[in-house]
Amino acid sequence: MSIAPVLRVGIIVVAAGSGTRLAAGQPKAFVGIDDRTILHHALAGIFASPPAQVVIVAPAGREDDARGVARAVADASTDRVAVVTGGSTRQASVAAGLAALSPGVETVLVHDAARALTPPAVFERVIAAVESGSTGVVPVLPVVDTIKRVDGAEIVGVVDRSELAAAQTPQGFRRDILDAAYRAATAEFTDDAALVADAGHIVAVVAGDARAFKITTADDLDRARRLLAADESGPAADQHPPLPRVGIGTDVHAFGGDGALWLAGLEWPGEPALSGHSDGDAVAHAIVDALLAAACLGDIGTHFGTDHREYAGAHAETFLARTTDLLAEAGWRIGNVSVQVQANRPRFAARRLEAEAALSAALGGAPVSVSATTTDGLGFTGRGEGVAAHAVALLLPV
Ligand code: CTP
Ligand code: MG
Repeated sequence: MSIAPVLRVGIIVVAAGSGTRLAAGQPKAFVGIDDRTILHHALAGIFASPPAQVVIVAPAGREDDARGVARAVADASTDRVAVVTGGSTRQASVAAGLAALSPGVETVLVHDAARALTPPAVFERVIAAVESGSTGVVPVLPVVDTIKRVDGAEIVGVVDRSELAAAQTPQGFRRDILDAAYRAATAEFTDDAALVADAGHIVAVVAGDARAFKITTADDLDRARRLLAADESGPAADQHPPLPRVGIGTDVHAFGGDGALWLAGLEWPGEPALSGHSDGDAVAHAIVDALLAAACLGDIGTHFGTDHREYAGAHAETFLARTTDLLAEAGWRIGNVSVQVQANRPRFAARRLEAEAALSAALGGAPVSVSATTTDGLGFTGRGEGVAAHAVALLLPV
């Protein structure tokens, strides 16, 4: 027999409203945002928060549906879920939830299911504030609009915006204080913080979150749908920090050009030249391709093709510096570059460090390693017809 751990936090999710203003033909908690309901999304946020007893307050007659949603969200955790029937006002629904809390619960959060996209971090902030001594805590957002006091059709005064904050849920309380305040309440309050403040307790604030907005009208439901669609399709950047990216690049040039050999950003007097639109520096070109590939910015032909006459005869430095700029514009910096040359000549051993320094300088100081190999007489490099280079690059988000 397993003994369930004593949960010191309880979260009451009020979901018993009818959703009159949304007017979606059924209680708001069971209206779909995407292929999942408002209640499903609300519970997903709660089960991603620190472990708590969860009391779902459901509309009369929809208790089994609420249980089904809880099972779908967190099958393994349903032993810490209770479902109770709501009342005719939000306050009555919260009272019904309070009555179902387990004995060990000391911190109570009251949350509107209608704030379906509230991030777990908000729950964490509220729990932490109550556990570190606040009697009551409300997540708030600053008010951005200029607020006017009106009388009928006329403005009769301004309100200092810095004194205002928009209250959200989950609102957190010491359980004994919330219980006592509810027992003593004789009026209807707009939220639990107002009820607790009326009982004479101080209520503190923590930062809320724009995603904790309440779905009240059809416009709000559209906003929730857009946010979820953006989560799906948009760059994961909204939710997760961007990851480093790798890219690969290859280039080949044949010997037979005019003038001196240029390779790995260095001039090699006395060596046969490579042919190409620019200087034929296969090492630099492979690096450019690897960098552009990692950033999904196309390839060398996209930015430096033969139609770009300004690059005719240009050396590595020009290509690499321009590539570094393109990456920076796209939000990337270079982690490192590793490049390997396959060629019988030139012999790299004596100038490897010099080549690495030249390439690194052209890439704004990013580390570059150059290795060189022959191919045992095999293939076009083995026959001395040309040079091949393969590069791998790592990019880091700026
Ligand atoms: N709520 C509740 N019991 C009630 C009324 C409201 O549990 N008798 C809950 C709602 O389900 C919602 C939260 O309190 O999660 C905030 O209420 P609101 O946004 O006003 O929801 P509804 O009352 O359902 O909507 P409306 O006022 O448009 O009818
Ligand atoms: Mg309501």
